[in-house]
Amino acid sequence: MSAAGLPAHVGIIMDGNGRWAGERGLPRNAGHEAGERALFDTVEGALELGLGYLTVYAFSTENWRRPPGEVRFLMNFNRDLLLRRADDLDERRVRVRFIGRRGRPVPRRLVRMMESTERRTAHHRRLTLQVAFNYGGRSELVDAARKVAQDVAEGRLRPERVTEASLRSRLYEPDAPDVDLLVRTSGERRLSNFLLWEAAYAELVFADVRWPDFDRTHLLAAVQEYRRRSRRFGTV
Ligand code: IPE
Ligand code: IPE
Ligand code: MG
Repeated sequence: MSAAGLPAHVGIIMDGNGRWAGERGLPRNAGHEAGERALFDTVEGALELGLGYLTVYAFSTENWRRPPGEVRFLMNFNRDLLLRRADDLDERRVRVRFIGRRGRPVPRRLVRMMESTERRTAHHRRLTLQVAFNYGGRSELVDAARKVAQDVAEGRLRPERVTEASLRSRLYEPDAPDVDLLVRTSGERRLSNFLLWEAAYAELVFADVRWPDFDRTHLLAAVQEYRRRSRRFGTV
């Protein structure tokens, strides 16, 4: 926990875009479009609060199972979103990073856009916005295990020296603190493979609004709820 009882790291599972659209007689993709406003209002809220780390779940390793038209839409939409918003994020001194696997089938032009946004904003320290894209908590752990295995095979690490810290330091962004507060919108109460290691001791808050209807006031309410929780980390 950081100053003023703020969570050092907040994770958000941005869920409910498709249902939001369906409830309005719109195609699912209109829900994804409507989610952009929610995301940037939430980022404003995070800046106002003075949060250090915010990680949002944008596309999971399981989301490739969706209909091809929706997957294609999400790839193009996320690239366009970066084109539209990179200046703004840079001006607001937000450091943007992406966590997840960047190989195929993630389109090359989206990866290039991710990398240029990361490079452009790498020096900022006000807020770190991590976008989980083609992210899965299990693949993150598999990738970390591969690095451990590689280091053991090449003699840099002894098997008996493999600890929680050695695995932790091989996650996608090891400098990010553990997640203190995890928010999921839209009524579902599951992790869906998000930040399995980092959220091991997170406080869970469920906001019963669809993601496109979420805004900074919901973020503030979640932080207030978090502050009322009693965290014990296994002690008394
Ligand atoms: C979250 O909204 C966005 C992504 C997973 C990309 P959904 O698309 O999951 O919307 P629902 O849950 O089907 O309503
Ligand atoms: C989790 O939402 C993934 C993202 C928000 C990107 P899903 O809608 O994909 O999760 P499930 O299918 O309800 O578990
Ligand atoms: Mg969903």
